[in-house]
Amino acid sequence: MGQALARAMLASEHSTVIWNRSPDKASALVAQGAALTATVAEAVHRSSMVIGCVRNYEALRATLDGINDWSDTTLINLTTGQPDEARDMADWAGTRGIDYLEGAILTPTPMIGTPAASILYCGPDAVFKANRGTLAALGGTPTHLGADFGAAAAYDLALLDLFSMAVSGVVHSFALASAEGISPRVFATYAAGIGGLLPEMINRFAGQLIEGRFPGERSTIASASSGISHIIEAANKRNIDTIALHAIKAVIDRAIAAGHSEDGLARLAQVLRP
Ligand SMILES: NC(=O)c1ccc[n+]([C@@H]2O[C@H](COP(=O)([O-])OP(=O)(O)OC[C@H]3O[C@@H](n4cnc5c(N)ncnc54)[C@H](OP(=O)(O)O)[C@@H]3O)[C@@H](O)[C@H]2O)c1
Repeated sequence: MGQALARAMLASEHSTVIWNRSPDKASALVAQGAALTATVAEAVHRSSMVIGCVRNYEALRATLDGINDWSDTTLINLTTGQPDEARDMADWAGTRGIDYLEGAILTPTPMIGTPAASILYCGPDAVFKANRGTLAALGGTPTHLGADFGAAAAYDLALLDLFSMAVSGVVHSFALASAEGISPRVFATYAAGIGGLLPEMINRFAGQLIEGRFPGERSTIASASSGISHIIEAANKRNIDTIALHAIKAVIDRAIAAGHSEDGLARLAQVLRP
């Protein structure tokens, strides 16, 4: 991701200084005009904006901890982590008097620098406004979520939750379909149709969660209970792993035990959160 970010900056003709723990990975960027430094301190010293993007906050802190001179430099962290790690990092920056923004990249590397990129930022409004123009080079429209330094990570993880669960459903359904002799290509046509139902459902659930009303007129938790039991039985017969299905069933069972069997499925979001 660091390479994609640097490439986008170079493509927008920003003077770009780069540092990576393994400098051998930088040769393509250097050929495109980036200046590779031997130390992080030198990269920070030569830059008015520093974008940090490494594996996790531990790596970020290990990279930045020894740097003391941050005069005239804004630090923007695009490393993924927990909201509380983001807030701790902001405290770290605050004690050093560093102008700081937190960010979360929602799109994969090929989209960086294109209109399809989506990057969320949080932190002081004035720091965001001062850097928005430069950040636009990374693609899409830079979006500011507000002053809470944990906001971008919170959105990021909730969206990653959605993505991870969805991918788990996709691969599980391919396994079940192919165990029944259905070709993945043919199955994909119908699976994509299910995917197409999600945007309307997501928006409808949002409205129901805001209103605190969970009408079961389209489908009920009782019906979902029956459905998940059928899938578990079919998967068991084909020796397909059912751990994820049992986890889903456990939440449905809890909702039914709490008296919500005739409610719609958005109720489950409330059941999940004590
Ligand atoms: N790739 C994506 O599509 C994507 C999308 C959204 C968000 N992100 C986020 O972007 C961040 C970077 O992701 P990535 O795709 O580049 O892969 P990654 O494997 O998460 O991170 C690789 C980078 O972290 C560096 N690094 C790892 N441990 C380090 C340490 N202890 N000290 C210093 N540097 C260290 C690596 O340096 P070396 O080269 O020396 O190993 C490399 O530059 C992650 O937080 C990820 O969640 C990535």
